[in-house]
Amino acid sequence: MLVPELPRLSLIPVQLLLLLLLLLLPAQCPARRAGRFDPTWESLDARQIPAWFDQAKFGIFIHWGVFSVPSFGSEWFWWYWRKEKIPKFVDFMKNNYPPDFQYEDFGPLFTAKFFNANQWADIFQASGAKYVVLTSKHHEGFTLWGSEHAWNWNAVDEGPKRDVVQELEVAIRRRTGLRFGLYYSLFEWFHPLFLEDESSSFQKRQFPVSKALPELRELVSKYRPEVLWADGDGGAPDSYWNSTGFLAWLYNESPVRDTVVTNDRWGAGSICTHGGYYTCSDRYNPGHLLPHKWENCMTIDKFSWGYRRDARICDYLTIEELVKQLVETVSCGGNLLMNIGPTQDGIISPVFEERLRQMGTWLKVNGEAIYASSTWRAQNDTVTPDVWYTCKPKEKLVYAVFLKWPTSGELFLGAPEATPASTEVRLLGHGQPLKWTSLEKTGIVVELPRLTFHQMPCKWGWALALTDVT
Ligand SMILES: *[C@@H]1O[C@H](CO)[C@@H](O)[C@H](O)[C@H]1NC(C)=O
Ligand SMILES: *[C@@H]1O[C@H](CO)[C@@H](O)[C@H](O)[C@H]1NC(C)=O
Repeated sequence: MLVPELPRLSLIPVQLLLLLLLLLLPAQCPARRAGRFDPTWESLDARQIPAWFDQAKFGIFIHWGVFSVPSFGSEWFWWYWRKEKIPKFVDFMKNNYPPDFQYEDFGPLFTAKFFNANQWADIFQASGAKYVVLTSKHHEGFTLWGSEHAWNWNAVDEGPKRDVVQELEVAIRRRTGLRFGLYYSLFEWFHPLFLEDESSSFQKRQFPVSKALPELRELVSKYRPEVLWADGDGGAPDSYWNSTGFLAWLYNESPVRDTVVTNDRWGAGSICTHGGYYTCSDRYNPGHLLPHKWENCMTIDKFSWGYRRDARICDYLTIEELVKQLVETVSCGGNLLMNIGPTQDGIISPVFEERLRQMGTWLKVNGEAIYASSTWRAQNDTVTPDVWYTCKPKEKLVYAVFLKWPTSGELFLGAPEATPASTEVRLLGHGQPLKWTSLEKTGIVVELPRLTFHQMPCKWGWALALTDVT
């Protein structure tokens, strides 16, 4: 729009033009400095989510903290044991620890002895993920960095005696192309100031003012996370957390203002409604297209986000199930944030590592259908179940990812309409164009190549690239 205006401008005398510029410039600069976003949901919700996030499609979530020490049942261990007094957790403590043992006593046992951020970074890189999100602080309140506001309940003073957030941040940024992100729980189950605020029905705001908000600012300024994953409103409204004030600062002034993405967990009632992308609920996977960018946060262990020693092998999703989650999610416009729980000593257990590496081998072949793809007019096929679509409109490509190899060797696709002279069908990782014929009404039948087990480009799902279909 600016370019065609230029010839017309040149007709105006130079003096007038200079005067005009002088008048315009000072007016623009302070306006820009004052920021583009107001601390209102109306303004903040209108911010476009930085493009990298939609292109990334796949990230890794890490739940690590003092709960990784008991590593029993759930990362909600402290709450279930002390607050809800669930017998399984009470008995576990009775049977394994001295009677006066407190949850705080787990702090020094969180050693991170074998934590090697470079090794983690290399595994994440091999998984094909494009971002990583670490729990900088879960509801227990223990911070994985040396927070000035978490006296004696942080990883630098207690347990590892290391700045875990920084070590991972440095390794991710030095060794990989992944974006670094942080999870932060707003509330803390048992923090005295939070409990006091709560009993005032959140009329008092001691906890956010002296703890949560300063920590959030510190985290952003020090580690420049490009994903800020808020969680745990503790039943308090966003006005209690001053979420809109914080987000306006994050988007206007913070060092990550241009690239940061956030989620929707910023106070009671904000989930699935306000903030950046929507998470709606844990393991959210709607199976249909959403008009707003969203993320399916889920975990490889079906029952826990933190590491559990009591997990059985059947509690872990198989790679087939994980690929299915990824494909369904991306076809419906979401990103997959897949969680692992390292052990207290910093090990990513071989089961988690294997799943991550398997995902990477699958994405090496099929990443073309996933990364930077768009949603198509149909999300899944109308005839064959477990076929999910993505597309790249600029390249005139539609991808059909199918999760079951048909025994007939022919794949029926009800949704795409071929263009007789120009449609081509190719199996990713295979190469040669495949034979296809149009179905009578709509759709096509693709003749899949007869491959032996070892010729298969991958084993947990396959992708067809269809050119020139509508
Ligand atoms: C909320 O945060 C903004 C930005 O930091 C600040 O200017 C404002 O005073 C805060 N409001 C309250 C009520 O804490
Ligand atoms: C497509 O997905 C929707 C939602 O998951 C489901 O109801 C429908 O049965 C699926 N269609 C096929 C053919 O699998």
